[in-house]
Amino acid sequence: MDASTGKKVKIIGPGSSNVDLTGFAPHLPVAGETVMGTDMHIGPGGKGSNQMTAAARAGGEVYFITRIGQDVFGETMRRHFEGEGFCTAYITAPAGETTGCALIEIDQQDGQNRIMVIPGANLHLTPADVAAAEADFADADAVIAQLEIPMDTVAEAKALAHRYGKPFILNPAPFGQVPEGLFDGVDWLTPNETEASFFTGVEVKTVEDARRAAAILLDRGVKNVVITLGVAGAFWTDGTASCHVPGIPVKAVETTGAGDTFNGALAVAIAEGHSPEYALRFANAAAALSVTRLGAAASAPRRDEILSFMEKAY
Ligand code: RIB
Repeated sequence: MDASTGKKVKIIGPGSSNVDLTGFAPHLPVAGETVMGTDMHIGPGGKGSNQMTAAARAGGEVYFITRIGQDVFGETMRRHFEGEGFCTAYITAPAGETTGCALIEIDQQDGQNRIMVIPGANLHLTPADVAAAEADFADADAVIAQLEIPMDTVAEAKALAHRYGKPFILNPAPFGQVPEGLFDGVDWLTPNETEASFFTGVEVKTVEDARRAAAILLDRGVKNVVITLGVAGAFWTDGTASCHVPGIPVKAVETTGAGDTFNGALAVAIAEGHSPEYALRFANAAAALSVTRLGAAASAPRRDEILSFMEKAY
């Protein structure tokens, strides 16, 4: 909610859509091993879709740019987008595409996961798909993207965000090589510890490690760095000021999508103009609630839950 107008903030961006096939087992198989699982569920996932779902539930008006197939998983995703109230104008389903899919294995002992993504249509989301939404960048409050789609499509979202003076939030997940200059000018870069280590060469385990890694990312032209530290919370700096917000201890049931929930909620708080410290608390509270529930997108909490949990926790 924008405090001055009372309207929902508008969040736009390109991203991936996957159907997640999630299996639970007492332990994860090693190579060549067959393990008997106990449960499985099928539900909406994909880093882009999860972050937009979290943003919608946290109070944003969501304009999602994504590509799915004309298949049964595409129908699952379309129903999800409609159910969450997304603007669906930029959701395309060209003939011949297959909807992205993720095979997720969950260890029931500690809730940790292992994920294989088959990207399908996500790999064909183009800069032109983003450019087609230009009119909706003009009055957006924040633009978000991740790295589960082509890099030139991410770069187009950054260019449009900056053309209209909107904050561009990039969650560099999943990590991998990025084109030279992709991070330059990013308003908010939000790696987790593993991604921050990959992109900087600093092994990130503590807040002090995060500070050192963030300095390297700032040198690459990022304006604000937020590094999530799992149970240790999250760290923010813009090179002048910084803060660390501790995590909120909860009993984890499933951690899939926790980072996505953090990012979706963070985007809403940034779009609403809150301080970085408030935004990190809001996002931490959303992520902590999400790990107490099953599902990637399905576990994202609603705004009133986040606010009351945040108030109790901090
Ligand atoms: O971040 C979690 C997501 O990663 C899952 O929903 C899966 O689809 C993969 O994209």
